[in-house]
Amino acid sequence: MNFVWAHGKLAMLLIPLLLLLVLELHQANAGSCNFFQGSWVPDSSYPLYNYTACPFIQKEFNCLKNGRPDQMYLKYRWQPLDCQLARFDGREFMQKFKGKSVMFVGDSLSLNQWQSLICMLYTSVGRTKYNETRVGDVSIFTFMDFGVKIMLDRNVYLVDVVMEKTGRILNLDSIEGGKLWKGLDVIIFNTWHWWNRRGEGQPWDYIRVGNQTFKDMDRMVAFEMALNTWAKWVDDNIDPAKTTVFFQGISPSHYNGTDWNEPTAKSCVRQKEPVVGSRYPAGLPPALTVLKRVLNTIKKPVKLLDITNLSLLRKDGHPSIYGLGAATGGMDCSHWCLPGVPDTWNLLLYNLLIL
Ligand SMILES: *[C@@H]1O[C@H](CO)[C@@H](O)[C@H](O)[C@H]1NC(C)=O
Ligand SMILES: *[C@@H]1O[C@H](CO)[C@@H](O)[C@H](O)[C@H]1NC(C)=O
Ligand SMILES: *[C@@H]1O[C@H](CO)[C@@H](O)[C@H](O)[C@H]1NC(C)=O
Ligand SMILES: *[C@@H]1O[C@H](CO)[C@@H](O)[C@H](O)[C@H]1NC(C)=O
Ligand SMILES: *[C@@H]1O[C@H](CO)[C@@H](O)[C@H](O)[C@H]1NC(C)=O
Repeated sequence: MNFVWAHGKLAMLLIPLLLLLVLELHQANAGSCNFFQGSWVPDSSYPLYNYTACPFIQKEFNCLKNGRPDQMYLKYRWQPLDCQLARFDGREFMQKFKGKSVMFVGDSLSLNQWQSLICMLYTSVGRTKYNETRVGDVSIFTFMDFGVKIMLDRNVYLVDVVMEKTGRILNLDSIEGGKLWKGLDVIIFNTWHWWNRRGEGQPWDYIRVGNQTFKDMDRMVAFEMALNTWAKWVDDNIDPAKTTVFFQGISPSHYNGTDWNEPTAKSCVRQKEPVVGSRYPAGLPPALTVLKRVLNTIKKPVKLLDITNLSLLRKDGHPSIYGLGAATGGMDCSHWCLPGVPDTWNLLLYNLLIL
C-alpha cells in the first residue's frame, strides 16, 4: 500500500476525530462549570469602575464618597473553581440587547444590583446619551444610543399588599404587580429581606391566604406561599422564546460574627477582608432552601443567579457605617457598597446571558 496515501487517509480520519474531541471537551467544560462555586482572589485591575465616573450611585451605597477609608474590599475578583469568567464588555452587552429591555423586580437588593449594572454599562461604553425616568413604581434608565432599557420595579414582596377597611392586607395569593412585567427580554426577580420585618418596618397589618385572614403567621411559610404564587405567574405568563427569567438568590446580611467564626464581631463594621476560602462557617440560609424548592416546581426555565454562597464570604462588602449611617450613626450590613459585590452578580448575569 502507498505510504503517503495511507498517511493521508489516516489524517483524514484523525483530524475530524480530533476536532470532535476538542469540541466535546470544550462543551463538557462549559457544562460542568458551576460559576457559583469558587473563591475570591485579589485582582489589582478591580474595581470594574471608579465611583467618580458613575453619577448614578445613591448615597446609601456610595461608600468611598461617604468616607470609607479602607479600599482592599474593592480589589477582589470572583474565581470559579473550574473555569474563567468572561470579562464584562458593555459594548457586547449593548449589541446583544439593542432595542431590548431588562428589568429588576424586587426590594432594595434589586436596586443595589440595578445601579451596579447601570454603572458597569455606563463606564464601559464611554460617553453616551441616556434618559432616566420614572413611571409609577418603575424606574427606567435608557441608553439612548443603543435603545437599551435597564429598569427597576420596586416591589418588595412580589405578591400584593392591598388596602381594605380593616387595614393593609398582604395577600399571598394575588400578584397584580405582574401587569408591569410583560414584554420584557430579561427579568431578574428577588424577594426575601422584607419577610422578617416586624413592628414599624412591617408595611401590612394582616396576611391573607385564600379566604382566610391572619394577624400573622410563620414568615418562612408565608415566603414559600408567595413564591409559589410567583412561580404560577411565571408558568402562566412567560414565553421562554421571548423572555429569560432569573431569580437573584438570597443576598446575605452580616450582623453576627459567630457566623464567620469571629464571635467578638457584633456586625460587619470594620470588616476589611472576605472570609478566606470557599466555605462559610454558618452555612447557607434556610430561605435559600425554600427558594430552591419552589424553583424546582416551575415548568418554565428560570435560572437561579445563585449569589448567596459567594456573597456570604463578603462580610467586608457592606456599607456598614459608610452608607446612610454616616449621617445617622446607624449601620448597614445588608446592602452592598458600589462599586462592590453586586458588580460580580452582574458579571455572572452577563456570563449567563452571553453564553
Ligand atoms: C458553596 O461553595 C463551596 C465552594 O465554592 C462549595 O464547597 C459548597 O458546596 C457551596 N455550597 C453550596 C450549597 O453550593
Ligand atoms: C477615581 O477617579 C479619581 C478622579 O476622578 C481619581 O483621583 C482616583 O484615583 C480614581 N480612583 C481609582 C481607584 O482609579
Ligand atoms: C426621557 O423619557 C421621558 C419619558 O419617555 C420623556 O418624557 C423625556 O422627554 C425624556 N427626556 C429626554 C431628555 O429625552
Ligand atoms: C373558604 O374556602 C374554602 C376552600 O376554598 C371553601 O370550602 C369555603 O367554603 C370558603 N369559606 C368561605 C366563608 O367562603
Ligand atoms: C449570634 O449567633 C450565635 C449562634 O447562632 C448566637 O448564639 C448568638 O446569640 C448570636 N448573637 C446575637 C447578638 O444575635
